Amino acid sequence: MLSLKGVVAGYGGGNVLQGVDLDVAKGSITCIVGPNGAGKSTVLRTISGLLSPSAGTIDHLGKPIHKLNCHSILSQGIVQLPQHDALFPLMTVRENVMLGGYLIRRKKALLAERYDYVESLIPLVRERPHDKAGNLSGGQRRMVELGRTLMLDPSLILMDEPSLGLDPKAVAQVWDLIKLFVEQERTILLVEQNVKLGFKVATHGVIMEGGKVRREGEPSALLADPDMAALYLGGTIQEAAPTNGKEPDGG
Ligand SMILES: Nc1ncnc2c1ncn2[C@@H]1O[C@H](COP(=O)(O)OP(=O)(O)OP(=O)(O)O)[C@@H](O)[C@H]1O
Ligand SMILES: [Mg+2]
Repeated sequence: MLSLKGVVAGYGGGNVLQGVDLDVAKGSITCIVGPNGAGKSTVLRTISGLLSPSAGTIDHLGKPIHKLNCHSILSQGIVQLPQHDALFPLMTVRENVMLGGYLIRRKKALLAERYDYVESLIPLVRERPHDKAGNLSGGQRRMVELGRTLMLDPSLILMDEPSLGLDPKAVAQVWDLIKLFVEQERTILLVEQNVKLGFKVATHGVIMEGGKVRREGEPSALLADPDMAALYLGGTIQEAAPTNGKEPDGG
């Protein structure tokens, strides 16, 4: 469904992604893990068009999207849930959810239909539409954000640490919703700090470090890989196989 090849991207100060190769299969839950600063969020931002790659390609359903702006990428059904709470605290739950439908704002009937759907799925949206988002707990805000994501009926949802900072009950709710999204034939690409949690549910695991994909495959097999522990103790892991691409200098 989505294919990244040799993607190089970064911020003003230099490249963070050093040639990322990644395939996301339709209907999968692909989970990226890796230490802080590995470039996980940067991968999601590059896919959603918030950053433009300086090299490499990103194809969605066989067509390149890496030169499109975020607006166009969003209209292809690729929606990103950012790492940090991105609700407007002084706006109500309903207003925040409605913002997710900005691209379809003139299609009133469709907008109402989608909103009804979000309400049916997320009790909080139905029960407390007029509460200010800023007065909700972290778990409640996350549920509203997930609801907002659905306003565009996305086929691919990019989620950056959806369970970050939540209590166990809220984490369970978030994961139940993610599983439901997959039953609805949406594809999920997510970043998760909690490797055990992420790899328990994921159908495909990806380990990033130093701006590259270092390992990928069956999540349970990756969990058993001794390199995984080394990585999380502050070490680095080598390429799984020699590549024919350019390598950054060692050191
Ligand atoms: N807006 C930015 N401007 C400049 N540098 C940035 C910016 N965002 C991230 N970086 C840098 O890019 C590198 C990768 O950051 P990124 O956020 O992609 O890492 P991550 O793997 O998501 O880490 P974390 O687990 O901490 O969320 C880091 O060195 C970070 O400092
Ligand atoms: Mg991050």
